[in-house]
Amino acid sequence: MEKFIVMGEVQLTGNIRVGGAKNATLPVMAATLLCSGVNILHDVPELSDIKAMQEILAVLGAKIVREGSSLLIDTTGISKQEIPEHLMREMRASVFLMGPLLGKFRKVRVSYPGGCAIGPRPIDLHIKALEKLGAKVKESYGYIDAEASVLTGAEIHFDFPSVGATENAMMAAVLAKGTTVIRNAAREPEIVDLQTFLNKMGARVIGAGSDTIRIDGVTKLFPAEHTIMPDRIQAGTFLIAGAITQGDVTVENISSEYLFSVTDKLEEIGADITVSNNSIRIKAGELRGVDIKTLPFPGFPTDLQAPMLSLLTVAKGTSIITETIFENRFKHVDELTRMGAKIKVEGRTAIIRGISKMTGAIVAAPDLRAGGALVLAALAAQGISEIEQVYHIDRGYEQLELKLQSLGARIIRSNG
Ligand code: EPZ
Repeated sequence: MEKFIVMGEVQLTGNIRVGGAKNATLPVMAATLLCSGVNILHDVPELSDIKAMQEILAVLGAKIVREGSSLLIDTTGISKQEIPEHLMREMRASVFLMGPLLGKFRKVRVSYPGGCAIGPRPIDLHIKALEKLGAKVKESYGYIDAEASVLTGAEIHFDFPSVGATENAMMAAVLAKGTTVIRNAAREPEIVDLQTFLNKMGARVIGAGSDTIRIDGVTKLFPAEHTIMPDRIQAGTFLIAGAITQGDVTVENISSEYLFSVTDKLEEIGADITVSNNSIRIKAGELRGVDIKTLPFPGFPTDLQAPMLSLLTVAKGTSIITETIFENRFKHVDELTRMGAKIKVEGRTAIIRGISKMTGAIVAAPDLRAGGALVLAALAAQGISEIEQVYHIDRGYEQLELKLQSLGARIIRSNG
């Protein structure tokens, strides 16, 4: 099993460019099912979650070719509407396929998506949206079958601004008859990217990025070319890496508007942030504890909660982190404790007492973002750390060790 070996106490310095966002790429790849022809996506990250989505589209009949950071997806041959169980389990995001397959073929069969380490991950809001559009949804024997003789535009209100449910509803509604209005929609930037791609295909979607999205159904969509938006979570992770190692790091190809809640918090902690039109620079200062509450966008992103908790482990004073999005997203705490962190978890709240220095240890990544947090902790810790189960990290961070090496980190990938 591959692991990272890290020698800590190295100040990271230099520039790093972030590539396309995993969480924008996955719904856009699913949206290609809504048309028939060759779609061209640029700045597509090489991640295991993207490879999993490629495998699913191929099983459905698509032809996919990668050329460097571009992906050509030919959906002419899509013939199936059933996602194999083992592929559904591999990646929760396969639930995004329900909307486009229902929108294009009026039927879809998926197995219940695997939850994952961070919580049960229900899909009740996804199903409610599809039923509002006229789908008949049956759940039995671990499968979900959805069928609709016709999809009709509807008013959809989400009890919670779910990112995936908003994206599924958009993709099911673009070919429905009439107008759909989604209220209390998620406002994440990745949803704006999906709107841009759908409109390039000939859809008529407005309002993404706000809490109300309006979709006027059309009869046909066409293949499109699109450059995926940059990955704000990778960008935030590299900024936090600069802060935790007391370094000086500039992240390129990122707009500060995607990270206001994060850069604002980093300044509160004591880092010095300089924003230019397409990059963000961080220089660390003396770190002091702060309180953080994760919220839907534009609030503090849950995907940067774990990396930020690593940073607060070595900030002066006490910090309190409240995780309001997922039930079980503190799995990095036990591992950080092995490195000397002083953290107490009570339900959805973590209380962190800052220490001056962590010490290297052998730890295991429990999930994607917790894995990222452990790498950051190891970069700052005294001595050597080993981080096992890096396959979790490879799901969402492209060649993380190479990118950190380019900033001076002493990290290697070892085959066990
Ligand atoms: C997306 O997941 C992201 N994944 C997640 O990133 C991200 O953490 C999350 O949005 C929140 O920003 C992708 O985009 C592929 P949600 P998603 O639906 O769509 C509950 C990463 O690390 N909920 O907004 O699954 C759910 O249980 C991943 O890159 C329902 O109750 O997130 C959770 O508690 C992790 N019923 C909360 O809403 C539903 O029908 C947020 O879920 C759907 C969701």
